[in-house]
Order: sequence, then C-alpha cells, then structure tokens
Amino acid sequence: MTWKLSPADTVAVIGAGTMGAGIAHVAAAAGHPVLLLDAAPGAIAAAVEQLTARLDRSVVKGRLSDQDARALVERIQPADAIADIASARLVIEAIVESLAIKQQVLSEVAAVIADDAVIASNTSSLSITAIAGGVPQPERVAGLHFFNPAPVMPLVEVVSGALTDPAVVDGLVAAADAWGKRPVRCASTPGFIVNRVARPFYGESLRLLQEGVADPTTIDALMTGAGGFRMGPFALMDLVGLDVNLAVSTSVYEQTAHDPRFAPNVLQQAQVDAGRLGRKAGAGWYDYSPDVVHPTAAPSRPGALPETVVEHGPLGWAHGIVGMLVAAGVDVDVVDGGGPGHLIFNGIHLVATDGRTATEHAAEATFGSADVAVFDLVHDWSAASRVAVAVADQAGPHVLPTVAAVFGAVGLDAIRVEDSPGLVVMRIVSQLASVAADARLVGVASAADIDAAMRLGTNYPAGPLEWADALGPERVVAVLDHLRAAYGEDRYRASLALRRAAQTGARLRPDQFEENADPSPTTEIPEE
Ligand code: NAI
Repeated sequence: MTWKLSPADTVAVIGAGTMGAGIAHVAAAAGHPVLLLDAAPGAIAAAVEQLTARLDRSVVKGRLSDQDARALVERIQPADAIADIASARLVIEAIVESLAIKQQVLSEVAAVIADDAVIASNTSSLSITAIAGGVPQPERVAGLHFFNPAPVMPLVEVVSGALTDPAVVDGLVAAADAWGKRPVRCASTPGFIVNRVARPFYGESLRLLQEGVADPTTIDALMTGAGGFRMGPFALMDLVGLDVNLAVSTSVYEQTAHDPRFAPNVLQQAQVDAGRLGRKAGAGWYDYSPDVVHPTAAPSRPGALPETVVEHGPLGWAHGIVGMLVAAGVDVDVVDGGGPGHLIFNGIHLVATDGRTATEHAAEATFGSADVAVFDLVHDWSAASRVAVAVADQAGPHVLPTVAAVFGAVGLDAIRVEDSPGLVVMRIVSQLASVAADARLVGVASAADIDAAMRLGTNYPAGPLEWADALGPERVVAVLDHLRAAYGEDRYRASLALRRAAQTGARLRPDQFEENADPSPTTEIPEE
C-alpha cells in the first residue's frame, strides 16, 4: 500500500488550541482545504482571529501578500461535528492530553472518514501504540508531533506505533516535507526523540545545583557563553514553565520504568510546590518582578599573564585555545607527552576535563605538582565568552588568578566552580550524548534524525551524537565513568553504543559528511 497526501486533499484538525491552530495554519499555508473542529464554543473563532492577526503582521512586514493571507484564512473552515470532517484524507488530533478522550474521539473519526484516510495525533507524551490500540484500523494511526509555535518550528516527529503501516509513515514524512518542515522518523517510545534526549539538559543542571557545584546564574552563563546553547537550562525551565517541564520529566521517568537518568529532581518539585513556576508566575529560578536586575556570573580576577605556555600532549577538543593564545601574543611551546593533555605555565598544570577533578589529579601526583586546575568544555573558542574552571584543593593561591589571566588573554572570563567530575558543560553534554546514543541503540530513531531533532527542536548548537564524535567518544565515556565512580550511581552508566565507539574508533554519526540538507535552526525557543 502507498498513501500520499496531495495539496488538494482536505486536512481536518481537531482541537483549535495552541497547537491545533498552528497546525491548521501550516496545512492551509501548504494549500490544503482545512476543516477545524473544537468542542469548546468560540475556540475556532478565537483561533481564526489570532491567525488573522499573525498573518496581518506578516503582511505589514512584507513577508506575505494581502491576497495570499486572505486566501490562507479562507481555506480554513469550521466543522461543527465529527460527521462534518468525513471528507478529510488526513485528520490531525490536537485535543486535551488524555488517552481515553483521544481514543474516544479518534474512534468516532475512524467511523466517518474513508478507509484509506489517515489519523495522526499531536500527543507529546502518550504512546501512539496505546492511542492506536483503542481505534479501529490501528495501522492507519501515527504520531505527527509538531513543536510550539507550529508555523515557525521546522521539526516534526513522525511517530510509528507498533501497528502503524510503514506506508502511512512514509506518506506523512512526505507531507511534512512538502509543508516545508524537517520530518524525523521515530518509534513510539517515551518522550519520542526530543523530550527524551533533552532530559539531561535539565536533569544534570539540577544535580549541579543540588550538589553546590554552581548556582543557576552561573550554570546558565556557562551553558550559553561556553557551551554555545541559545538559552541556559534554568532560564529555559522558567520560560517553558517548571510545572510543564517537571510533568514531562515525570512522564518519561514513569514510562522508562524509572530509568535513573530521567529521575525528576526534588529541587524542581519544591519550586513547583511553592508556586514558583517561572515567567508565567513572575518567579521561578529567577525573579521576573519589574525593575529586578538578574545577577550575572562572577568572573575570577586575572593576575599576571605568563610569558610562555607549554602545550603538553594532545589537547584534543581543547586544542582550539592554542591558536588563540598564539594570536594573543603568548609564546606556546609544544611538548609531546603522555597522560591527559594539558597546558603548563608558571608551574601550573591546566587540564582539559576528562572527568577527573583537579583535586584527584593533584592527589595522584599525575603531574608531580599540587598546582592543578581543570577547565570545562568550550564548544567554539572563537565565539565563547567564558569558561568554567576548578582548582585543586591542594593548589596555591596564585593558581586561579594566573589561569584567569591565560583565559583573559583569549577573551574569556574564567568562572570558578566547585571541583567536581566533568564540571558543568562537559558533564551535561556527555550525559546528553549518552542518552542520545542509547536512543539510537534501542531503535528510537536513526543517528541523523536524533541529531537533526535536537538541533531543530531544541536549538542545540550541535547534535549530541556529532558532538560526541567531535569530542571523541572515548573522552565522553571517560567523563561518564568518572561521574559514575564519584557518585556510585547507575545514572551515569555510559551508553553501550558510546563505549563500543570508544573501543573501536567508530563514529556515532558516520553519515554526517554525506547529509547536509537540514534547514537552519530557527530563532525561536521551543516549548515542551
Ligand atoms: P490547548 O489546551 O491549547 O488546546 C486543546 C483544544 O482542544 C482546546 O481548544 C479544547 O477545547 C479542545 N478540545 C479538548 N477536548 C476536545 C474534544 N473532545 N473534541 C474537540 N476539541 C477538544 O492544548 P495544546 O497545548 O494545543 O495541546 C494539544 C495537544 O498537543 C496535546 O496532546 C499536547 O500534548 C500536544 N502538544 C502540545 C504542545 C505545546 O507546546 N502546547 C507541543 C506539542 C504537542
């Protein structure tokens, strides 16, 4: 069987709320006649009014002609009852997130539409297999998971339930493609791709806060200014709503039989209990009262800049700093050597994190010196503004100012954090990579689709698998192994896929040099 949606085919959207209205916009913009149905009186009129206002703004900005805007709105017609959508070739459901109600509504839909029409659900947390299981002909039911705001966000997760006909998935992928979206295929698994793989972005940040490694301001500043993320995790939780974010975490945790990597955090629960839900409540991790100035991360004060820096052994991902030091007029000598790659100046050993703490290096006398500092992952040296640094407990007082001077020479603020395994950015990115590698291993999606989903659905600066390849899977595994040893928790078990790549030198994204067709990420910050 093949299933194909043509531009003249009618698309019905059930639910005219935030998502349904956006999806109706997308389908109408692609030329389809759209039928919009909602149980609440006035919901469709409100959705059309908002859509018209949005299109008017596009007309004013010159992005759309007045004629096209009016034609788009006219293609969307209200439907009063399910019987009225019988002509639809595709029905997309975006109603309340309840399995029983979705099954009921979709069963009614199945009874009126043609046998070869397809039913899609926009659910973000329910199993497509479970939804389809309650509907006659489950093979024609799939997930079509848009991101908010649907007209702007390019990503669509096309989700197969256990019984979904592959031809239906192919047809939905082609339709999403024709609508100018970037479809990714995924199996019906907890959180699909984005809401599963993104969990450590929040979960590890909350653990860093809980362990006193750094405060929310510092963690956010490092994730943006060193990690290259568009927003820090605490600011993003505030934007999405802590209650919404906690609900997604809890749902994924429950559905994965309490996988410790997805465990919700008590600090977040406490914030929700206290009503500190984020921007919508006026306070969350940050205070949004008028006139309140958000604190900023405090940089360490730089001391005197050393004249010469020695690069000892391969710095790997951190090698980019060397060219910048040279450009800044610092003499850099290179010495081949074993052990972890590091920089030496004024008797100080500055190590690119591999998950060991500075205190551990000093205690083990790795470098025969107590003056050890460790620095965190920087995604792009030329774009970064700061870097996290931890100093060994045994180190002298001159270590931090001297390290701050070296980073200052290349335009980076050194931000001191507690000496902990993997520091901040490397710890979060390693855990993201491990969860992503596992998602590929257990068949959630292909490696290319996982990376595309995370770049386009959450605006990450790189897909977690291509990022792990760039860092070296062996480095990511080392970081996770040190975290696991330090905390004794299964939460930090490295994905077997990551460990195998580290053992064989294979890439997690062998295809990445062939495929280069992804649209650019949007400037929008997504919501869960
Ligand atoms: P919403 O509350 O804004 O809109 C839901 C609409 O469905 C309301 O207008 C409501 O009157 C209508 N509705 C409820 N039961 C109905 C029924 N039995 N028949 C017809 N209409 C009915 O909700 P939102 O945020 O648009 O979410 C809809 C779906 O999309 C949910 O499954 C949600 O999980 C999913 N989703 C939400 C995202 C978001 O960021 N809000 C992102 C991606 C998916």
